[in-house]
Formats: sequence, C-alpha cells, structure tokens
Amino acid sequence: MKPLRSQSWFGRKDREGFIYRSWMKSDGWPHDLFDGRPVIGICNTWSELTPCNSHFREIAEFVKRGVWEAGGFPLEFPVMSLGEVPLRPTAMLFRNLASMDVEESIRGNPIDGVVLLMGCDKTTPSLLMGAASVNLPTIGVSGGPKLSGKFHGHDLGSGTGVWQMSEQVNSGTMPVEEFFEAESCMHRSKGHCMTMGTASTMASMVEALGMSLPGNAAIPAVDARRYTLAQLTGRRIVQMVKEDLIMSRILTREAFENAIRANAAIGGSTNAVIHLIAIAGRMGVPLCLDDFEKLGSKLPCLVNIQPSGKHLMEDFYYAGGLPTVLRELAEAGALHRNALTANGKTVGENVAAAPCWNREVIHPYADPFKPNAGITVLRGNLAPDGAVIKLSAASPHLLQHRGRAVVFENIEEFHSRINDESLDVDENCVLVLKNCGPKGYPGMAEVGNMPLPPKVLRKGVTDMVRISDARMSGTAYGTVVLHACPEAAAGGPLALVKSGDMVALDVAGRAVRLEVDDATLAKRRAQWTPPPLPKRGWERLYVEHVLQAHEGADLDFLVGGSGSGVPRDSH
Ligand code: FES
Repeated sequence: MKPLRSQSWFGRKDREGFIYRSWMKSDGWPHDLFDGRPVIGICNTWSELTPCNSHFREIAEFVKRGVWEAGGFPLEFPVMSLGEVPLRPTAMLFRNLASMDVEESIRGNPIDGVVLLMGCDKTTPSLLMGAASVNLPTIGVSGGPKLSGKFHGHDLGSGTGVWQMSEQVNSGTMPVEEFFEAESCMHRSKGHCMTMGTASTMASMVEALGMSLPGNAAIPAVDARRYTLAQLTGRRIVQMVKEDLIMSRILTREAFENAIRANAAIGGSTNAVIHLIAIAGRMGVPLCLDDFEKLGSKLPCLVNIQPSGKHLMEDFYYAGGLPTVLRELAEAGALHRNALTANGKTVGENVAAAPCWNREVIHPYADPFKPNAGITVLRGNLAPDGAVIKLSAASPHLLQHRGRAVVFENIEEFHSRINDESLDVDENCVLVLKNCGPKGYPGMAEVGNMPLPPKVLRKGVTDMVRISDARMSGTAYGTVVLHACPEAAAGGPLALVKSGDMVALDVAGRAVRLEVDDATLAKRRAQWTPPPLPKRGWERLYVEHVLQAHEGADLDFLVGGSGSGVPRDSH
C-alpha cells in the first residue's frame, strides 16, 4: 500500500506530530487511531435549510459503521449545503462556491479517502466537482428519493405536480384550496424530489459514472436498504484507499459517455448537461455539448417516470432501478461495459444479471417508452454556441414550429405581464425570456419553463414553444428551448430579439433561428449595452469568471485540478 497522506500529519514524531494529534485527541480519540489506518472524510451536506438532505446525519452514522468495520478512522465534516428551493436567487449561483469549499476542505485536511453525501440538486455536482479537483479515492452515497406523493387517490410528483396544478388553478379548473391542500401530500417523507428531476437524475449519473455502489440512485430515503448501502459504502472506501482507486481511474471519458447515454434512457434532466461538462472539466476529460447530441439524442427513453412519464422513483426502485436500465443499454451495445466502478468491478459486471420486475416502468430497449428521446442540441443564429431541448418532455406537434416572438427582457417583466389579459399573445407565439443565464440572473435560474398566459390555458392549450438562456427544473416539461448560448447578458443574439420577430424551431434540423436580416441585427447590436456588474462579493467574482452553459458554467479559474498535495504545515 502506498504511504497514506494522513500520516504526514498524524504519523510524525516531531513538534508538528504532537500538534496534529493532540488537538484531535480533545474529541476523545485514543492514540492508536493515529497508527496509520486510512482516515476517511465523510463530506456531509446536512442542513435544516436543505430539507432534501435532512437525514444525512443518520446516513453518516451508517457510513461510519462501515468504515470502523473495515479498519478505517471516519471523520465527518460539513460543507456548504445548497437547498434548491429556499436558496435565492438560485442555488446554481452557489454550486461553484460550494465546490471550492469541498475541494479545499478535502485537500487541506488529513484525509486518505472521501465519502460524499449528496442529495438535493446542486449538492451532487458541487461535491463531485470539488472532489475531482483533489482526486483522492472517493465514493458517493445519495440520500435517496422521497416516498411517492399521494393526493386524492393519485400519485403526486415533486415539482411536476406543482407545474400541473398551478396551470389548473390558472385555467380555473382547480380550486385554490385544493392546491394548498396538496402541499402536505406531495412531500410526506425525507429524501430528495421523487420525480426524475435533477436530484434523481444526478443520483443516477453518480451510479452510471461508477462513483457509487450499484443501486445507489433509486433506493428511497426511508428504506432500510439505503442505510445498508451507506454501511457497505463505508466498508468499501477503506478498501479503495488500500487499492489507491482514485477518482481519475473511474471518471474516464468512457464513464462520461455511459452517463450521457444513461441520462437519455432515464429521461433525465437538462441540468445534467451542464453538471457533467463541469465535472469532466475538473477531471481533465474532454466533454462538450456535441457529445450529448452525438451519443444521447437518438437513444430511446426506457423509463416511464414523471416528468416524461407517469410513475415515480419509488416505482423505479421496485422495478429494478438504474442497474436494469444500464443492462438494457449494455445489451444494446450502448454502454462501455469495461468502465471501472467504485466497487472495483466493471459496470458490465455489476449489471449483467440485473432483473426487471415491472416492464410498465422500465421498458426494454427494443420496445422503449419513447423512441429518439434524449436531450437534443440546437444551433442557429439564435444560439450559435448551442441550446438544448429535452425531447422526452416536449410536445411532438411543436417540434417544427414558426411563431411570433413575445419578448420579456427579464424575469420581473415576465411576471408583471404574463397574466395581463391585454398581452398580445396566442398559442402560436414563441415566448422569449432574456437575461436569465449564468451572468444575467446571475446564476442561471430554473425559470425557462415559463408559465403560459391564463388566456391561452383557458383554451385548453397546455404547451407553447418557449426559448431562453435559463435552465429549467428537471421536474418540468414542455417544448422549452434552454441554455441559449451565448446568453443575452454576454451579448448573445438572444439579447437582440424583439417582440414581433419571427422565430423558427426546427428540431429535426437541430436549429433555432431568428428570422431577422443581418443588417437589422447589426443595428440592434450597436444599441445594446451589457448589464452592470454586481458591486461586490461572491456575485461579483461569479459574474466576472463564470463560463457559459455549454462550457459547464464553472468558473474559468476552477477548471482542472490541483491534486492532493499540501507540503506546508499549519504552524
Ligand atoms: Fe431538493 Fe428537489 S428540491 S431535490
């Protein structure tokens, strides 16, 4: 076994060794724990302000059990926790900040291996990004989805149900009292959103990348098997340290290609595009928007889960979970079977015998839930660096569409005008929202699935083409073109659109176009001025350094890694 890095703190017979051990001993640890056993850091995103991760102290205790059993020394530490719902203006503004906390907490401390506890949307990518830049042996445990929401005898999915019911309230088909009654019925247990939103998607990405034990993605948060998995993960990380199974041996180009394909097969969130590119950037693995188009867009969606389908994550687990999906992909030749995973086996070995217990929830590759349903990349003069659309959640009749733009300069203007009965809009128009990208919001909020005007909803219309530089919640749906790059606030062509312009969406041709001549656009560009920079603090640093969505929206100076070496002592 290679010398443990923790021994350069705890194994010393000098003044510094005294200092490093003595202060730790104030927690009651006996001297023999510093004898050279692997020190395992448990990176915890527990917070009462992140309700999706509120059970993580319990999960950490089970990880510790496993670490002790395998002869390691577990030490739990907190990092910045990002609650997707309460955090304003958007949790995404802080993903990169949290990743810096994770990176420096791991690198600066006497840790040999890391267990990442991840759940709510941004807590997964921020931990993977930070850990990747250090590149120690690392394994993830997700918090697991909540139990299925139940309301008036029906399933009620996180997020997805909110968008559906608020449309019903706006169209006058649901009393507002019922809407508020549903609040307590949607989220009735611990865990993260139980639709195939961003949290479930990213938990699936962790598993598809090989960064967890098999089965991690779907076990409900309150199922005893979630805690068994945590204990087994604790045992495994100690062995990973002994094998020197560092992150870069798992997060290869093949692993990311597997994740892209898995995301298509589960009908996963568009947010996975940004997060996977950012994680790959930290790992030094080349990955770009075109990889999603090339590898994922023509794949079928196998999983019938909201928002693309009707079931929920609990059903997905009982049907077999992600191992079943990965086996279907492997048998169809759409998976790199030899990619190494955290348990020391290849992904092909892990999933070879994965059964399916419910074909209504997980369809076979040969008879998919939806064909050609992956995330599709669009280009054209409205998004020269690309935009994305999630086909599994879009309306087929709108995929070829030409309509008059109704433009909102920012989210405040959208909110102030969308419910105005005098707004000149009908169902054939294209709603265009600007200044909601990484620099513009700032933080690229999940506002791209703009609610439809009430007068359109009252006609029974439930979808319109919408285009923005924003993201949308993984729980959302509709014919929504997202992540238009460059964003409006960076001077992208989106900034030049005016109400009344014609916009054409041509998904078959992979294009989104503004039908305005170049001379007119040049005149508009001459009049455009960039928004002012935030005055100070994190927002200022973020806006000055954030990359565009197609580059993963990381900060330019965070791309790559610095390894785990810290030669200088603290005193
Ligand atoms: Fe936390 Fe959805 S809000 S996972």
